[in-house]
Amino acid sequence: MASTDKADAPPAVVEDKTTVSKQKIDPYNVAGEVDESGNVKAIDYDRLIQDFGVQPLTEEHLQRFEKVTGKKAHRLMRRKLFFSHRDFDKILDAYEKHGTFMLYTGRGPSSGSMHLGHTVPFLFTKELQEMFDVPLVIMLTDDEKYLYTRNKNEGVQKKGSAVEDFLKYAHENIKDIIAMGFDPKKTFIYTDYEYLGGHFYWNISEFESLVTFNQASGAFGFGNSTNIGLIAYMAKQCVAAFPSSYPELFGYKDYRAPDFALSAARRYKALASIPTLIPCAIDQEPYFRVLRDRCERMTDAHPKTALILSKFLTALQGPGGKMSASDPNSAIFMSDTPNQIKKKINSHAFSGGRETLEEHKRLGGNPDVDVAYTYLSYFLEDDEELADLNKKYRSGELLTGEMKARCIAEVQKFVSAFQERRAQVTHEVMRSYMSPRKLEFGGNPSPTNPATSTSAKPEGEASGGDDKAASGGKDGRGTKGERKAAKLAAKKEEQAAKKEEKLAQRPRTESEEAS
Ligand code: TRP
Repeated sequence: MASTDKADAPPAVVEDKTTVSKQKIDPYNVAGEVDESGNVKAIDYDRLIQDFGVQPLTEEHLQRFEKVTGKKAHRLMRRKLFFSHRDFDKILDAYEKHGTFMLYTGRGPSSGSMHLGHTVPFLFTKELQEMFDVPLVIMLTDDEKYLYTRNKNEGVQKKGSAVEDFLKYAHENIKDIIAMGFDPKKTFIYTDYEYLGGHFYWNISEFESLVTFNQASGAFGFGNSTNIGLIAYMAKQCVAAFPSSYPELFGYKDYRAPDFALSAARRYKALASIPTLIPCAIDQEPYFRVLRDRCERMTDAHPKTALILSKFLTALQGPGGKMSASDPNSAIFMSDTPNQIKKKINSHAFSGGRETLEEHKRLGGNPDVDVAYTYLSYFLEDDEELADLNKKYRSGELLTGEMKARCIAEVQKFVSAFQERRAQVTHEVMRSYMSPRKLEFGGNPSPTNPATSTSAKPEGEASGGDDKAASGGKDGRGTKGERKAAKLAAKKEEQAAKKEEKLAQRPRTESEEAS
């Protein structure tokens, strides 16, 4: 990022006249290396694993996954398109032992329409939710996109980039996300401008207090002329990973307006112990590095957040860049017609085939850089067919046009199924996913050491103050101790409310009037 930070940046190292640059991956940049002749190279994911210090996803992980869930690993994992992780093993352990965890992912609503690349993390997250039967939160960062755009424009408010514009994009994106097929019983979706407050904000403040300006600028390249909103934003994206930011989803009260439940103005330790897994593209990793370093320093320590990280769906023009909403020829949009899809792939998709038919037949093509083949590896479920396409392309038996035709058919199928579901997502449907409510999820049906802390309590019951507050007891009404504590809390709240009322009715003193 930091295009506005030129004044603070150290002088650039001038290598030579061409714009040679290293690969740059962070939340605001995704670009492959540019070599001396100005060629953009494919993103080097092995290098990224080294640079970021994340772990590669291995065959052992896939086997473990299949053993724990009893289901075949998702194709995006089998093909290493989700290729790296942090503590994915620990999430599998926790699920096996204690039965559940929370999934968290998100999207920055930079425009009203989503493209094929945007759907990848959601596609994967949806299947994880189904396989594990766990709660999921999806954050739309309208605030991040507002602050970022305004920062990029050097503080100037440009048309189409006001708060209300990003809120509108967020709503459109939420409808698209719902059309991916998330289970309404276990999914909560929100925009920051509409939801942040209460326990969430409590976590934000605490997290902000744990990050210095030096640390933030070190992680994100902020400078002295970055607006302070953007600098502080990261705390929001980080604490969104804490189940304790969403008490209602687990059957606890928040203390917000309009109820201001005084008994809920306390932390619920039990929620702090629920682990979280974040499926996302690897550009978001810098946020969660900052998060992981601080999970255990929160007053109620959280287990370090686990991550499962994907590659980027390449632009139609080929490896080195990702699909971009601002370049319509780089991307297939989820609103494209079958004919537009066909045209875009036929005329823009980078081919790994040879210059001439004769050469192709003699020497064979390269599926590794072929965009049509790459998209098939994301969307074609059948492993055997994919391997066959790979083999025949390499041998020269299969031609570029044939690979493209297969890709067009598969992408058209995916996009039109999406569009059919999207047409059903009314405003009311959208709002139902966005209402803070107790989520219903089963988790692991036979955990070896069931957690008392993660099976949520009956709706609205004030929680008692002990660590096992969320246990709910065997009959779902809470243990004896919890019920007693709840009664006590309710009584206290009543007393406090009475006191408040009295205070409000009493004539004001002079000093109070002045303040
Ligand atoms: N910053 C992300 C974006 O610009 C949005 C986001 C928020 C997110 N929380 C997340 C993405 C968690 C992945 C996981 O797209």
